[in-house]
Amino acid sequence: MRAEALFSLQGQSAIVTGAANGLGLAMTEVLSANGANVTMLDIDPRVIDEAARLDPSRETVRAFICDVCDPDGLRRGIEGAFEANGRLDIVCANAGKGSGSGPLTEAGALANVTGESWSGILDLNLTATFHTLKYSVPLMRRRKYGRIIVTSSFAGLRGEALVGYAYSATKAAVANMVRHAAIELSLDNILINAIAPGPFRTNIGGGRMHESSTELAFAGRTRLKRIAEPDEVKGLTLLLASPASSYITGTVIPIDGGGYACG
Ligand SMILES: NC(=O)c1ccc[n+]([C@@H]2O[C@H](COP(=O)([O-])OP(=O)(O)OC[C@H]3O[C@@H](n4cnc5c(N)ncnc54)[C@H](O)[C@@H]3O)[C@@H](O)[C@H]2O)c1
Repeated sequence: MRAEALFSLQGQSAIVTGAANGLGLAMTEVLSANGANVTMLDIDPRVIDEAARLDPSRETVRAFICDVCDPDGLRRGIEGAFEANGRLDIVCANAGKGSGSGPLTEAGALANVTGESWSGILDLNLTATFHTLKYSVPLMRRRKYGRIIVTSSFAGLRGEALVGYAYSATKAAVANMVRHAAIELSLDNILINAIAPGPFRTNIGGGRMHESSTELAFAGRTRLKRIAEPDEVKGLTLLLASPASSYITGTVIPIDGGGYACG
């Protein structure tokens, strides 16, 4: 079979959350470039401009300003994508953010993590991911087909001194939620996997990945001794979104320059 057929998303309908920047924008680009109609959801109004840049006709890439922490707004965004395309095949539950500095810093130490900041990260990284699955799955079930990709982190696979408590805990939680959901969703041929990125040069953490000291520290966590560019998430995204991954579900796949396996 030729690569075009294995990886084609022609005629399929996709949703990406956190699509205005970083990994979500790269995911949107690769899904769109390979034939999918993509609905971008993001709280950042720039999502509208990015959709227009990718598809000036607004026929194959659409965008909605949406806070994924608002369950009703999220449900409307997901159902809107379904209604516009008459189907839902692919969901990237990607929106998320960091929770500040790690446990060896003053601000990141157990004693100083506030309940408010803890809850805010749980709402976004964990609960909104749950709601994204909850509202998407019934729409995928109608055609007994689906591909769900959840963005976890290599910091959800092990302890990581460079990230905060809530981030580490939520990324571990979504990884196991993916394994758990695979049990149920496989009954309807809906495949669900997580990606566990290592350090990527995005706006996460208020842009700290663009600072050379932070970049150096995270690069040292990998075997390739560099952080990744957002485009480098495209290959794994396309694999997990496409017919090529027909026997892959319930996995958590590191994409981290060897950071988890041998960092
Ligand atoms: N960059 C990394 O090094 C790295 C590593 C591991 C995992 N991740 C994960 O990748 C995912 C994407 O992050 P990124 O690195 O591209 O960061 P980013 O900040 O560049 O992009 C995150 C996007 O999510 C959006 N977002 C934030 N809160 C939202 C909300 N309430 N509703 C809707 N959208 C919201 C932001 O507006 C932004 O467009 C996150 O889940 C993050 O935890 C990133």
